[in-house]
Amino acid sequence: MAGKLALALDIKDTAEALSVVEELRGEKIIIKIGYLLFIKNGPPLVKKIKEMGFEVFLDLKLHDIPNTVFNGVRSAVDIGADYLTVHTLGGRQMLEKAVEASEGSSLKLLGVTILTSHSEEYVDYIGSKYTLDELAEKMAKTAVEAGIHGIVCSPYEVRRIKQATGKEFIAVTPGIRLPENSKGDQKRVATPEFAVKEGADIIVVGRPIINAQDRKKTVREFLKRIQNA
Ligand code: C5P
Repeated sequence: MAGKLALALDIKDTAEALSVVEELRGEKIIIKIGYLLFIKNGPPLVKKIKEMGFEVFLDLKLHDIPNTVFNGVRSAVDIGADYLTVHTLGGRQMLEKAVEASEGSSLKLLGVTILTSHSEEYVDYIGSKYTLDELAEKMAKTAVEAGIHGIVCSPYEVRRIKQATGKEFIAVTPGIRLPENSKGDQKRVATPEFAVKEGADIIVVGRPIINAQDRKKTVREFLKRIQNA
């Protein structure tokens, strides 16, 4: 799979978010929508963005009983989402039901493992005998075995997780910056070239594009770097 770029549309105001998408019409990118926009605007927003010609990535990190997640995935299929995140902590059965719900559609399910906001204290909190890294790797492996199509991970762990799972999957990496960008609240950032070389298939970029003076030019710069990596 050739590297793709997903724009994290983390903008509170819906009209403003849509005008950013409109500005980027014609660029081959995926638009990632999270709680911020989806909870307020949901399906009509997805429809508008799809009509503008973009793929839509719903970052909703579903985590519930298997049957409820099955229904959630079916709804995502119904509204035409192209990618949807599910939380791998939900367990094998939940992941299998999510996969079952996506069958026959083009929806790609992406598993989230340990959120980057967690530290080793979290391992203690959930009573795991594993370290944070071991746990993330175990959950990624389980998800891929269950048929989940991709894993969201750091550019610094993508190579290790790809080796450990031994099965093809779409690696999605946030925390990407151009050398001149500020890190914002990201603790560890990587360039698009680094992420692609490590095995990333989709790189997720938010603020470096949203806050850019010339968003189209910045998108093209990211795309060029992904292609030339
Ligand atoms: O603005 P920035 O490029 O940092 O945005 C990164 C996007 O990726 C945000 O939407 C953030 O929620 C998401 N993300 C992340 N780290 C993770 C998982 C998701 O930054 N571990």
